[in-house]
Amino acid sequence: MTPLLVGGATLIVDGGPYDRAMATVGERIERVTDLSGAQIEHLRFLCSSWQVLADLSFSDLLLYVPVAGQELFEICAQLRPFTSQTLYPQDMVGMRVGQPEQPIVERAFREAKIWSQDDPVLVDGIPIQMDAVPVKHDGRVIAVVVKEGSPATSRRPGRLEQVYLDLAARVSAMICAGTFPYRGGESMHEWPRVGDGLLVLDAAGRVTWASPNALSSIRRLGVQHNILGRLLDDLGVGQTPARRAIEAGIPMDGELVKRDTCVSLRLLPFIEGGISTGAMALARDVSELRQKDRVISVKDATIREVHHRVKNNLQTIASLLRLQGRRASDDAKAALQESVMRVSSIALVHETLSEQPQDVAEFGDVVRRITRMVGDGLILPENQIDIKVAGATGPLAADLATPLAVSVTELLQNAIEHAFPDGGCGTIGVELSREGDDVVVVVWDDGIGISGDDPKGSRLGLQIVQSLVGELGGTFSRSSRGGTRAEIRVPSTAPLT
Ligand SMILES: Nc1ncnc2c1ncn2[C@@H]1O[C@H](COP(=O)(O)OP(=O)(O)O)[C@@H](O)[C@H]1O
Ligand SMILES: [Mg+2]
Repeated sequence: MTPLLVGGATLIVDGGPYDRAMATVGERIERVTDLSGAQIEHLRFLCSSWQVLADLSFSDLLLYVPVAGQELFEICAQLRPFTSQTLYPQDMVGMRVGQPEQPIVERAFREAKIWSQDDPVLVDGIPIQMDAVPVKHDGRVIAVVVKEGSPATSRRPGRLEQVYLDLAARVSAMICAGTFPYRGGESMHEWPRVGDGLLVLDAAGRVTWASPNALSSIRRLGVQHNILGRLLDDLGVGQTPARRAIEAGIPMDGELVKRDTCVSLRLLPFIEGGISTGAMALARDVSELRQKDRVISVKDATIREVHHRVKNNLQTIASLLRLQGRRASDDAKAALQESVMRVSSIALVHETLSEQPQDVAEFGDVVRRITRMVGDGLILPENQIDIKVAGATGPLAADLATPLAVSVTELLQNAIEHAFPDGGCGTIGVELSREGDDVVVVVWDDGIGISGDDPKGSRLGLQIVQSLVGELGGTFSRSSRGGTRAEIRVPSTAPLT
């Protein structure tokens, strides 16, 4: 289908489509116009709430923004209706038109009035209704929304369609008066769809019309009687802010609840001639969503509880080892103390996970706990050793965080035990980062460094690190230049099953 532009339109397209596809609505508008920040914000906000207009009018919406210094408009945003077929399967954003091609756009802009195309244009034999609605902000027209649709043929005409079109006309009038999008509605996320359910309320808040879907939702709440002419608050399914929304002329969210059934409402007042004349309410049965949320949060709580218990069990093991160490010879004591650190570092991973809503932990949080534990346990009061943690890895799953935690513990222990042999002072650092898909953990110190010949000592610590990192499919390397630098690099998607 060819783009619908009246009068043998020539399209002036500048810039590549790629360029435009990447930009947000706000950025696109900023690029073509000299509108102020507040005006651009108004348009951006319009585009986040105008689905309701597309659906009520069964129309495609195109936002025409005046191009700075030229007698042209550029289409900066486009929206398709859910209630009807689109007339524009293709992307219209970035097209520029002038007065001869789109006289009603120019006229609506100049005269601050809604203009409709006199005779419907035929596209593929279907008559297209086209209206240009000026967008007003603080008394000035800043853009034009064009509605294009074929309401007469896109569906069987009936009462529902007539109500929708009347409501669309009221919303259009509000755009033209500068009262839609609503001030104070900026933070409203996720607009329910018109098709989910629609109620129309009069100035007193009484229901004057309800769509079949809205009626079904209200039936599911157990309301059997006729709701027409009644206040929502009198239905026996909770209180809503309907009257407040109408009185104050600002949009509000509410809900109707009966046991497990919950219908959420977005109340959108009509402000006409400066006063609030009623509202429409987008109604959506969210019972199943709520149910799912509840199941997920129970599951989350269970997982957190399990992590908490695992942590407790590991701490018990650590204290048993510690007890045993008291009765052991010096060598055995040192070995047991290392084991206590290893077990405790795993406990810290579970402790961190037990505090997270999801089953992932920011590894930096784990590392900070480990440095505290290792520092408290191993650094003698007379030694001045600073441990710094920098950077972040992003959230890691337990099967990656656990081996990394044990590895970091070994490397920190080594730095404390071996890098500053003469009771010296120095600095140890842990640096965390993400490089592409890799998680990179560096433990460095400014101590004596590693000597060429193989050092004395058990080497069990380094073996543990080697083998854990190997299992994760990563690499472990060490270098020495004015201290020691040990680097672990593992793929963040490391499978460990
Ligand atoms: N940061 C470091 N600075 C100096 N020497 C180190 C450092 N890390 C490890 N080493 C040397 O490497 C040896 C092996 O470490 P490791 O395998 O953990 O065994 P252990 O710590 O039980 O001696 C240590 O004994 C020590 O000599
Ligand atoms: Mg060691």
